[in-house]
Amino acid sequence: EQDPLVIFTPSGKRGRFAKGTPVLQAARSLGVDLDSVCGGRGICSKCQITPSYGDFPKHGVHVAEGALSAWNAVEQRYDDKRGLKPGRRLGCQAQVMGDVVIDVPPESQVHKQVIRKRADTRAITLDPATRLLFLEVEKPDMHEPSGDFERLSKALSAQWGVEGLTAGLSFLSKLQPALRKGGWKVTLAVHKDHTTAAPRAIEIWPGLHEDGLYGLAIDLGSTTIAAHLTDLRSGAVTASSGLMNPQIRFGEDLMSRVSYVMMNPGGDVEMTRAVREALSDLAKALAQEAGIAPELIVEAVLVCNPVMHHLMLGIDPVELGQAPFALATSSSLSLPASDLDFTGINPRARVYILPCIAGHVGADAAAVALSEAPEKSEDLVLVIDVGTNAEILLGNTSRVLACSSPTGPAFEGAQISSGQRAAPGAIERVEIDPETKEPSFKVIGCDLWSSDAGFAQAVGAGSITGICGSGIIEAVAEMRMAGILDPSGLIGSAEQVGTPRCIDEGRTHAYVLHDGTADGGPLISVTQGDIRAIQLAKSALYAGGRLLMDEMGVDHVDRVVLAGAFGAHISAKHAMVLGMIPDVPLDKVTSAGNAAGTGARIALCNIQARHEIEENVRRITKIETALAPAFQTHFVNANAIPHATDPFPNLRA
Ligand code: FES
Repeated sequence: EQDPLVIFTPSGKRGRFAKGTPVLQAARSLGVDLDSVCGGRGICSKCQITPSYGDFPKHGVHVAEGALSAWNAVEQRYDDKRGLKPGRRLGCQAQVMGDVVIDVPPESQVHKQVIRKRADTRAITLDPATRLLFLEVEKPDMHEPSGDFERLSKALSAQWGVEGLTAGLSFLSKLQPALRKGGWKVTLAVHKDHTTAAPRAIEIWPGLHEDGLYGLAIDLGSTTIAAHLTDLRSGAVTASSGLMNPQIRFGEDLMSRVSYVMMNPGGDVEMTRAVREALSDLAKALAQEAGIAPELIVEAVLVCNPVMHHLMLGIDPVELGQAPFALATSSSLSLPASDLDFTGINPRARVYILPCIAGHVGADAAAVALSEAPEKSEDLVLVIDVGTNAEILLGNTSRVLACSSPTGPAFEGAQISSGQRAAPGAIERVEIDPETKEPSFKVIGCDLWSSDAGFAQAVGAGSITGICGSGIIEAVAEMRMAGILDPSGLIGSAEQVGTPRCIDEGRTHAYVLHDGTADGGPLISVTQGDIRAIQLAKSALYAGGRLLMDEMGVDHVDRVVLAGAFGAHISAKHAMVLGMIPDVPLDKVTSAGNAAGTGARIALCNIQARHEIEENVRRITKIETALAPAFQTHFVNANAIPHATDPFPNLRA
């Protein structure tokens, strides 16, 4: 008689096993992804499975009711205490007795798909560096003296096959009480990444720890810091938050922060302290929002540009302010949180920082590359991460180039007379009638597209407070299309344009988007200074992309991906009218949202992705915009709206 056949779904993996083999053991030997924290002791319930009964013609088996051993006392105890869903069994308790088809539900899979990018890109599976492992440790014995840590390591090796555990002093000080309180049963959070570094003990809890495990994915930008608290057991984002980078008070853009350090001895220390405090505050706020203890945050992944990278690490960024822009290190880093004064998370949490690409192209660009994977694209793709400092990648399967471009904070609503962050009250979408020159707009927090007067009437006084990045881009592009702006970016007078909305401001003019007198709110206009700030930002962006196209030897790209916190909100048409991006069919412009943040989440959820990006970064060709004479030429030509020389045939279409 043949041994029973076991078929697992959805993987389709199958094999024959002797009667009495626990399902968890069968799954392990076939490499089926079935979770377990307690190692088969029937207490964690992570190994739940659903057996199916009946005929399975596709698999050629008939499954009878007795295909698995009967419900046992351990399962009964678990069900009484916690309740098992109908039809579920514990995979570590149920034994194979006959041919059987077993479904592993998504919550019982360790390597779940957690980040599904668009249909054209791969899915990311969950494979984090830090895992929870339940252990039974031998009691101390006077006749065979050995340390508690040594017996813990021995148990880890015997019960989980993890060899060579290491631990720091702060872990050792928690070890003895936890072992004794748990009656020699403990749950360990162990960190083992993609490198040859030994596994590290991060945290220990008496008994079975069931309160979860979390990681932080952080995008540390020059203007804003965004973080996602991620459940490392499901891959789900539990809470997200952001705050302004407190270093803004030392300088709005990166170079002004480097100059601050050059002119103020000790300025780097001040800035390091400010950003570290902000990271800790953000972590605390997220833990509080999610209702979890900070010690449960056992990992963090950080992406940032090179100047932020150095300042956060406490390294003087002065070398990055002058050629040849040498980084202290471009390699990825894995550090304990305590080295970075990072409070609000577990002090032993490991902080992984993605590798930098070059002196001006940082770990944030590496994160964008990880998220958008230009090296896997058949067609030539230009990825632009719009921010105070833009990261730009151009490439396909044969080659990837990268540069960064100092756009300044105008696209984030800073340096704009009525600018504000994208928050309720900010104008985010704009249309201007080319005949009447009257604007209509949409304001964040309000589901209304309306003319200026209609909006004020419908919503009431003071509900419009300013204009955000996407709003100013649309406003300037619409002004150009309505003939309020000439190609050089000059706003016409009321007489020239034919609307009283063009008002005199000394030697220049401004266009009034919202006349606050009707509702007692602020007057919101686009001034000549605003236009200049947007022109500088968009020229820098365009020139960066153009420089990469020169280097690649092409005069057009197949598609454009706009990334960045507000990249998702920019309309392709307006970006092209403004000349932010090179000419391309409008349906070939897509938005990737916060790609750097997504890259950070990918590296948090999957250790192989860390290996992948470390390899890829070595193959990316770095282009230094500050040293390229062509950048200046492209920058000057890109000042016109949309451009002085480059054609935009897709705009006419
Ligand atoms: Fe923990 Fe089955 S493995 S309950």
